[in-house]
Amino acid sequence: MNTEKSINLKKPTLGVCYYPEHWSEYLWENDLDRMVEHGIEIIRIAEFAWNKFEPKEDVFNYDFFDRFLDLAYSKGIKVIFCTPTATPPAWLTNKYPEVLNAREDGTLYRHGMRKQHNYNSKVYLKFVSRLVDKIAAHYCPHPAIIGWQIDNELNCETNVFYSESDHEAFRIYLKDKFKTLDALNEAMGTTFWNQTYTAWDEIYLTRPTISNSNNPHLSLEEKRFFSHSAISYCKLQCDIINKYKPEDQFITTNGIFGHLDSHEMTDSCLDFITYDSYPNFAYDTWTDPKKPGNLNDRRSSWSLIRARSISPTFGIMEQQSGAGGWDTRMKQPAPKPGQMRLWTFQSLAHGANFISYFRWRTSWIGTEIYWHGLNDYSNEPNRRLAELKVVHEDFNKLSEVAGTHYEANVGFIRDYDNEWDGEQDKWHGPLDDFSNDSWFSASQLTHTPMDFVYLKSGCKKTTLEDLSRYKLLVYPHATILTKETAELLKMYVEQGGTLIMGSRTGYKDQFGRCPMRPMPGFASEICGVKVTDYTLVGPADEDEYAVWDNEEIEAPIFNDILQPIGDAKVLATFKGNYYDGAPALVVNTIGKGKAYYYGAGFSEKAAEIFLRKLGFSCPYKDIIELPREAELAVRSNDSHQYIFVLNYMDHSIEVDVKKIANDLLSGEVISGKVSIEKYGVIVLEIS
Ligand code: GAL
Repeated sequence: MNTEKSINLKKPTLGVCYYPEHWSEYLWENDLDRMVEHGIEIIRIAEFAWNKFEPKEDVFNYDFFDRFLDLAYSKGIKVIFCTPTATPPAWLTNKYPEVLNAREDGTLYRHGMRKQHNYNSKVYLKFVSRLVDKIAAHYCPHPAIIGWQIDNELNCETNVFYSESDHEAFRIYLKDKFKTLDALNEAMGTTFWNQTYTAWDEIYLTRPTISNSNNPHLSLEEKRFFSHSAISYCKLQCDIINKYKPEDQFITTNGIFGHLDSHEMTDSCLDFITYDSYPNFAYDTWTDPKKPGNLNDRRSSWSLIRARSISPTFGIMEQQSGAGGWDTRMKQPAPKPGQMRLWTFQSLAHGANFISYFRWRTSWIGTEIYWHGLNDYSNEPNRRLAELKVVHEDFNKLSEVAGTHYEANVGFIRDYDNEWDGEQDKWHGPLDDFSNDSWFSASQLTHTPMDFVYLKSGCKKTTLEDLSRYKLLVYPHATILTKETAELLKMYVEQGGTLIMGSRTGYKDQFGRCPMRPMPGFASEICGVKVTDYTLVGPADEDEYAVWDNEEIEAPIFNDILQPIGDAKVLATFKGNYYDGAPALVVNTIGKGKAYYYGAGFSEKAAEIFLRKLGFSCPYKDIIELPREAELAVRSNDSHQYIFVLNYMDHSIEVDVKKIANDLLSGEVISGKVSIEKYGVIVLEIS
C-alpha cells in the first residue's frame, strides 16, 4: 500500500467547518467551547473570506483571523486554514473583469455567486499569488494551524472555462505539447470538415457551433487542458505556502470534481486529498430513490472509493450533518436520526481518518440558508448535536482503526482519458457509465470489496506492483487503450492476475482517433480475441443475452462479435440478433493468469455472475454472513481485521458472525446472530 499521500493521524478525528466571519464575535468563545464538549478537535476556516484579509486592493489586514486563531488555540482547537481564492472580491472583478470565467459564447460570469474566476488570467494569478504569500507568511507560524486547504472545491460549480485568458493559455498548452501546427493538425484530425489550422491564434476552446458538436479530439484535449490549468493553479498556491510552512503542517484541498485529474494534482503538490461527502444527494440528483434495489445514500461509497484511490487514508473536509438546500435549488430531507452517524461510519469504513462536518451552524444569510449544519439558526440543543456526542464516544473506542487500510482483492480500473472522452462520445460514455454502475452495485450487494485503480501517467506512473496487489482487475470499456497500458496489463495477467475487459475496448488512440487496425487493438493479444463485427443493441432489438455454461447472462447496450485467436477459448455465445450463436465471451490464458473479453456492456446481474463464476464473490463469508442491504467494509493491519457493517435500511437487520469477535462499539465479545438497528453500524475486531 502506498501511504505517501495519506493523511497522518493517530486516531480517527472529528472536525467541523466554521465561518467566524458569519457571526458576531461574542459567539466565538461559546461556539469553540461547545465544539470541544462535542469532541471536535479540528476546524476549517477562511475559504471564502478574501475581504477580511484584503478589504481593498493592496491593503492587507490580519487582525480578524489573528483574534480568532488565538482564541481557538487557547481552547486547544486545531485549525486547517484555507486560501480564500474561491471567491474573488467585488472590487477586484469590477476593476479587472478579465479575471472572470466565461460561457462558451464569451459572456462573463459576474459577481454574486462563487467560483466566478478563471485559472489563467495573469491578473488573477498575480492577485492570488500576492494574497497567498501574505497570508502564508503571516499565519504559517501560528501554533493553532496544522494544515492548509487550497481554495475550495476546484472545478466545482463549473468545470469548463472559456474566458479570453483560457483561450490564450490553451494555445500555449497546445504549442508546448505539439510543437508544430502540422503535428497538432494531424493529432486533432483537422483535415475532417476542413478544420485545418494555419496559425495558432485560429485555435479556440469550445465556442458555440451548429448542433453543439465539436471536433472530438480537440474536445478531449480541452479537458486535459482544464485539468492542467486547475493543477497549475493549485500548485502555484502550494509552492508559495511551502516557502513558509513548518514541516509538520500539511497541504490539501477538498472535493473531487470533473475535468480535474485529482490523482495528478495530489501526487504533484498535495499531501493527501480530502473529500466532501453529502450522501443525501441520493434523494436529489439520483433518479427514482424509491426504486427497489436503488442504493441511494449507499452510492456515496462510490465517491469514497475514488477518494481512497488518491489517498489510501484520506480526510472528509465536509461531511453532511443536516438537510441540504440552496434557496435556488436542491431539495434534500434532513438526515433521519442515526443517518449522520451512519454516514460518518461510511466514510471511516472506506478509509477516512479525519471527518469534519459541514457546518457548525446553519447559515442565517445567503444562498445556503437551507444547507443545515450541526446547529440550527436558533443555536438551541438539537438531535444532531446529541448524535455527534454519540459519534464522539464511538470514535474514542476506535483509535486503532487509524493505522489500518481498506482491504480489497478486486480492482476496478479507471482512467481520466476514457472518462473525459466518454463525455462527448455517446457510444462509449453511456456504456461506460452503465457498466461502472453495475460493477459497483454488484460488488456492494455481494459484499466483495473493491478498490479503484486509476491508471496514472503523470509524475507517479502506475506500475505492475500497483496492479498486482489485486487478484482480479476489471476494466470494462477501455476505448482508449495505449500500447504501454496494454503491455502493463499483459504483465499483470502473466504474473497470475485475472483481467476482465468488455466491448468497445481498444479501438481509439490517445487522441480519440480510430486507427486502422483490427479491434480490440492492443487488447487483442492479451484477451486472445478479434472483433469481427459490432453493433449497438438498438431500441428495436430484443434484449440481448449470452449463454455461459447453460446460464443466460445479459449482454446489453453494445455487442462485439468475437473470434478467438490462438489457444483462447469461447466460454459463451450470443443468443438472438443476427449473430445468434457467435462467440460472446472468450478467455485467454497467458503465463499464470487469465484474461476474459466479454462482447457486451455489463449489467449488475452479469457482473454478479462474473464475480461468482470466477470465484471472487463474498470473500469474507467465513467470517460474516449479512443481507444484501448492508454494506461490508474491512480495514486491516498486519495483525487485525476490523469488519464494518453499515445498515442503510430504516429497519433492523440480522447478521451471522462466524467467528468470535470483539464488538468494539458495545465492548462485548460476540458470535452468532446479531441484530443491527436501523441506520446502525457495528465494528468487529478479529485477530
Ligand atoms: C460544498 C461546498 C461548501 C458548501 C456545501 C453545501 O460543495 O464546499 O462550501 O457550499 O457544498 O452546499
